[in-house]
Amino acid sequence: MDYQLRKAEPRDVSDILRLVKELAKYEEMESHVKLTEKELLEDGFGATPFYHCIVAEIPGENCSSGSSRPAVVGFAMYYFTYDPWVGKQLYLEDFYVMKPYRGLGIGSDILRHLSDLAIQMRCTGMMFIVAENNEPSIQFYKRRGAEDLSQEEGWRLFKFSKSSLAKMATPAEE
Ligand code: COA
Repeated sequence: MDYQLRKAEPRDVSDILRLVKELAKYEEMESHVKLTEKELLEDGFGATPFYHCIVAEIPGENCSSGSSRPAVVGFAMYYFTYDPWVGKQLYLEDFYVMKPYRGLGIGSDILRHLSDLAIQMRCTGMMFIVAENNEPSIQFYKRRGAEDLSQEEGWRLFKFSKSSLAKMATPAEE
């Protein structure tokens, strides 16, 4: 199938949000998606982008509300992080190809693109998390050499919620 990968542009935010929601639905977590197109636009395309995206699009397909533009059928959202032991890392946050377009090599091509970028930027690795029950993707990554750090090194994923942050933060002045 004729597809192309390119860097996301501001006009892609509605497709990005659609695919973020599809991936969340696939992971049975759709209700957790609170983000809006406005926030995606501000956060990804402002003076200090908090994320970057690669999109895969197919000319002549039509899956975004009747538009005649090429259809965006997959994407990867990523950013750069820093590991104080080994330095720069590429963090793969979201990675999704719509079901009818899976198995065509689009996902592998996106990973090739990100690997090229990570090597150019002298990153020491690409980090990501996978839901424990997402066995097809765990195998997809393992076939490409990914190591399972929770299993091999015993790391656990933690988070402070906004309310926990508010409790630790400096109290607002009255
Ligand atoms: N659906 C899925 N995979 C298929 C397939 C199908 N209909 N038919 C074949 N495959 C196999 C391919 O042979 C290939 O095997 P390989 O690992 O031996 O190369 C692999 O599955 C898919 O490779 P590719 O076509 O390059 O990737 P893709 O475009 O299907 O994208 C994912 C890969 C993981 C992004 C995609 O499967 C996906 O969106 N999955 C659901 C969401 C998800 O789990 N995302 C990752 C969250 S951590």
